Amino acid sequence: MPAYAVIGGQWGDEGKGKIIDVLARDAAVVARYSGGNNAGHTVMNQYGTFKFHLVPCGMCWPETMNIIGNGVVVDPDVLLEEIRLAEEAHLPGRLAVSDRAHLIMPYHITMDRLQESARGKNAIGTTGRGIGPAYVDKVNRTGVRVGELLDLEDLLIRLPELVDAKDTVFTKVHGADPVDREGLFEKVRIWAAGLGPFIQPVEDIAGRALDNGENVVLEGAQGALLDIDHGTYPYVTSSNSTVGGTMTGLGIGPRRFGGVAGVFKAYCTRVGAGPFPTELSGELGETIRQKAGEFGTTTGRPRRCGWFDAVAGRYSVRVNDFDTMIITRLDILDGFETINVCVAYELDGERIERFPIDSAVLERCKPIYEEIPGWEGTTAGLTDPDQLPADARRYVEHLERLLGIPASIISTGPTRDETIIIRQLM
Ligand code: GDP
Ligand code: IMO
Ligand code: MG
Repeated sequence: MPAYAVIGGQWGDEGKGKIIDVLARDAAVVARYSGGNNAGHTVMNQYGTFKFHLVPCGMCWPETMNIIGNGVVVDPDVLLEEIRLAEEAHLPGRLAVSDRAHLIMPYHITMDRLQESARGKNAIGTTGRGIGPAYVDKVNRTGVRVGELLDLEDLLIRLPELVDAKDTVFTKVHGADPVDREGLFEKVRIWAAGLGPFIQPVEDIAGRALDNGENVVLEGAQGALLDIDHGTYPYVTSSNSTVGGTMTGLGIGPRRFGGVAGVFKAYCTRVGAGPFPTELSGELGETIRQKAGEFGTTTGRPRRCGWFDAVAGRYSVRVNDFDTMIITRLDILDGFETINVCVAYELDGERIERFPIDSAVLERCKPIYEEIPGWEGTTAGLTDPDQLPADARRYVEHLERLLGIPASIISTGPTRDETIIIRQLM
């Protein structure tokens, strides 16, 4: 059996965590391949409620190996705390971390915050977790990799030179304090002791599972429209959240793929700055936010809410080659008399159906909506497609037509059981 990618189709927080927890039942391996603890993936099942930032969402299944791939940036303080919480909750999944994943150092977090405040009104609205600066050091070949924790002596010789370079920028460019060296060296010792047992060549684990005919689920972080290449640059994250990232971020090849699923909320949200054509800034947006509890899993910030954007969705299908969509949070639309879906944009007086990837142009786009009847009754908690109210089914079919791909799963609530499986993915 092959690898299945499960990727956010919008601007993140589509409910990937919940879906991965459902799919992991049939997976030997669940692997993160991009991003870091900017992600916040909510999982609710009989073990409790978890907000995973780094640990993959297959932790609640006993047969599942959870991998943090080389494409991820790892804040060891956050990872060690998540490992502690997982042990405390007696989560049965196992965990392995790539020796080639890069470390988020405390100076990356400082840099993230300094840069954001220097950007002023042009701030990206990052999560402040040091993600961008850690990837900058990776690409600049001045990063520190997880595997270096296994040779502490060498790392402690190398670190002072890296810190010197940060100090220069902090003190001379930003007028900030230099790095707390002793604090950093102490942390590195704690990280080495705590993470040592989890550091492994993970591409072998994933590759062997695939060789043995087992399923490997690739857990997307963020969403396609936050991808560094394909997203609404510069209001994006610093890694490839789209399908290409799965291969470079884990070390598997394209012949292994059985499918690529896009996870879409039945409406749309975004956290942080950047264009969002279907955003509802008035009362309706607030109604959705309160009803759905749309507040960031990582930062607690209120999420911007809006209608489903099929123009952006089709673009997301294009750059990921999704073969199916997974629709989440359908229950949030229960009780709406009518629902809008954006089918095209008006740009400078003209109707367009393609997604303009230039953020300044996208900012000028106004949504052209199709109004669709809402449904009577509720979808909350449903597990059988035949129980869906007829108009809810029509809404799903409408999204399928607009995006040109069939839906395989519909999520009707935050817990594992509140799920309609239309067609088995794997
Ligand atoms: P992720 O980052 O894509 O994993 O998504 P988040 O966990 O950040 O945000 C999704 C939120 O929606 C979480 O609070 C989930 O518990 C919740 N959720 C997921 N699926 C559903 C659903 O079908 N219905 C409802 N009501 N909540 C859901
Ligand atoms: P999950 O995996 C939603 C957004 C931030 C900001 C931009 C850049 O839970 O869906 P960064 O800290 O990555 O440099 O911030 O990206 N962002 C997310 N938004 N869900 C996420 O992850 C996100 N990860 C980053 O809000 O706009
Ligand atoms: Mg999230």
